Amino acid sequence: MLRTSPANTPLQVEERLPEGAGRALSWATPSPRIPVPTIRFEREGQQVGCIEGANLRRAALDAGINPYTGLNNLNNCGGLGQCGTCVMEVLEGERNLSPRSDVEEVYLADRPANYRLSCRTTVNGDVTVRTNPASGVGKGSNSLVGALKALVGRK
Ligand code: FES
Repeated sequence: MLRTSPANTPLQVEERLPEGAGRALSWATPSPRIPVPTIRFEREGQQVGCIEGANLRRAALDAGINPYTGLNNLNNCGGLGQCGTCVMEVLEGERNLSPRSDVEEVYLADRPANYRLSCRTTVNGDVTVRTNPASGVGKGSNSLVGALKALVGRK
């Protein structure tokens, strides 16, 4: 019940419930379990839960895991899909990720099919990944390493 109060005094709320009504409002019924995708970071030995549809790069950063190496810590696009430096290798659960995008096809053209740009990848179920895989930065990358690889490989 809500009552008016004199000016400059806070309103007071008075609540009267019938005997036993409070118990009826308790959390006696267990809430349904919502499955939470788990990301296992193989190199770091960590596993984290995330919401379905989480961004893989963001989930790594939130868990304190660095998706970049060396100079790419400074020389990256911050998750805009413009540099090709946030590469992760998918070890298990590839079907639980979003399909490889056109941007990834460009940046990872010379990389194995299980390499992904983590900033372009959505997690929909359990997955195991390796951050900073060997030769993770492809020729299509705008990073320093990628640019050098492209120059050296140019004919
Ligand atoms: S952070 Fe630049 S492409 Fe992923």
